[in-house]
Amino acid sequence: MTNIGVFDSGVGGLWILKHLKAELPGYNYVFFGDQAHVPYGKRGMQEIKSFSEGITKFLISRNCKVIVIACNAASAASLKYLRAKFPEVIFVGMEPAIKKAVEVTDTKKVGVLATPATFQGELYNSIVERFAHDVSIFKDTCEGLVGQIEKGDLDGKGTREILEKALKPMIEKNIDTVVLGCTHYPFVIPMIKEIVGSSVNVIDPTGAIVRQVTRVLDENKLQSESREKSNTQIFTSGKTEDMEPILLKLFDGDIEVKKINWENDLGVNVLK
Ligand code: DGL
Repeated sequence: MTNIGVFDSGVGGLWILKHLKAELPGYNYVFFGDQAHVPYGKRGMQEIKSFSEGITKFLISRNCKVIVIACNAASAASLKYLRAKFPEVIFVGMEPAIKKAVEVTDTKKVGVLATPATFQGELYNSIVERFAHDVSIFKDTCEGLVGQIEKGDLDGKGTREILEKALKPMIEKNIDTVVLGCTHYPFVIPMIKEIVGSSVNVIDPTGAIVRQVTRVLDENKLQSESREKSNTQIFTSGKTEDMEPILLKLFDGDIEVKKINWENDLGVNVLK
């Protein structure tokens, strides 16, 4: 059975993992959340690239043939580099769904929520250049939101304040579409919808990434015909209890999380 690796700075990628498992059940999954270094969004590109490389080596050591970079910031910093460095692996990366937003907006005004690393990346600028000619884009980095979601605070006052601060000025500018450019943010879609109202489209990239993974599996003749029971392993470089609240919400306590020590288990060997 093919092993699919999925990684993120933290719990955001678990949302994608849940949907991959539901749509593509005949695969084994190895998930890595780099909670020792979350948030990635405020870090430099080189640093994010080096973490992504370490994690990729770990996932390769666990026999992953396909690796989903379930993180916009890590994709911005490292997708191109990882594809060149590990040509034997099939990488699927993320980018903010600006193209989709341009297709659905009527007001020609679109809000994008993503971390600073994603906005700084070449990838983001090239998508805006290619697709957003006649559309005005309003950006916000939602300072502190990744931390709230890591804590499992999906509907508290602090989380609402961050989202209102980002979204209310966008609504005043007459946006009718919001792009979620960070894999942590789908966890707060209910609150985003409460703030922006039902007339605003909220674009969650999860469906598109699952379709893309399905496509690459087909193209590479990796369709699953296995009748064995698949398994999912979850690793964190942080504390296991940091991942447990969200893990419990998503998988009802079916999956256990194991601690990986960045220095000893991934460490120098892996990072070099
Ligand atoms: N989930 C990540 C993303 O999609 C980044 C969150 C962070 O660590 O800043 O960009």
